[in-house]
Amino acid sequence: MRTPLIAGNWKMNGSSALVDAFGQAFADADLPESVEVVVHPPFPYLDAARRALAGGSVKLGAQTLNPLHAGARTGEVSGRMLKEFDVEYVLVGHSERRELYRESDDDVYDRLLAALNADLRPILCVGETLEARDAGRTRDVVLRQVGHALAPLEPAQRARVTIAYEPVWAIGTGRTATPEQAQEVMAAIREYQAGFDPALAQSMRLIYGGSMNAANAAELLAQPDIDGGLVGGASLKVDDFLAICHSAR
Ligand code: PGA
Repeated sequence: MRTPLIAGNWKMNGSSALVDAFGQAFADADLPESVEVVVHPPFPYLDAARRALAGGSVKLGAQTLNPLHAGARTGEVSGRMLKEFDVEYVLVGHSERRELYRESDDDVYDRLLAALNADLRPILCVGETLEARDAGRTRDVVLRQVGHALAPLEPAQRARVTIAYEPVWAIGTGRTATPEQAQEVMAAIREYQAGFDPALAQSMRLIYGGSMNAANAAELLAQPDIDGGLVGGASLKVDDFLAICHSAR
């Protein structure tokens, strides 16, 4: 059995007030025990979020990390620093970072490895653009991204990775992949994994991201290969995010 994971990616949004609102809402929330919940606020709020969520079951995540432990990298944050704030999860290879900050497949791999070496649990984001989908290249693009990141890892390292399938055309657009479209790609990812590690293919969590919200979450999460969600916009609304967590039960 794979434990469902619901991860809230705040991106460059939120405020101290939102951190407090989350802390209050989740302190009182009756979260399903069978679901793992993580919030990924921007770096400046991590410490406040750690305090606001202390004592509850919600875990803390970051949105990226630098491949190095320390050094002359102005503006960057390392995995070792994140660990000091009890961060457990970190996103790697989000499409906004691939596109806007030119992170290549090699950069994504370096960050994935750094996360593992810092004892963080990486959520590797993969997904095709609309152009690639229209050209019939969805499977090629997604499996190339997965393969590039995972193939060089040791089996024990791979076992610590969660994969988020996020079609780029569905992120922040309000245009969600249909459950069938998401399921098709996620089944392909699992099948690909099974090619080199059948046991891991069964245990690895695959989560969907791209305009998941309180209204469409249950249907997406009911698909056999969808083990959770990476939620952007809807994770900024406490009630919606809570509803999504309950849908994953
Ligand atoms: P969205 O973002 O839910 O706002 O589409 C998802 C993501 O980018 O992780």
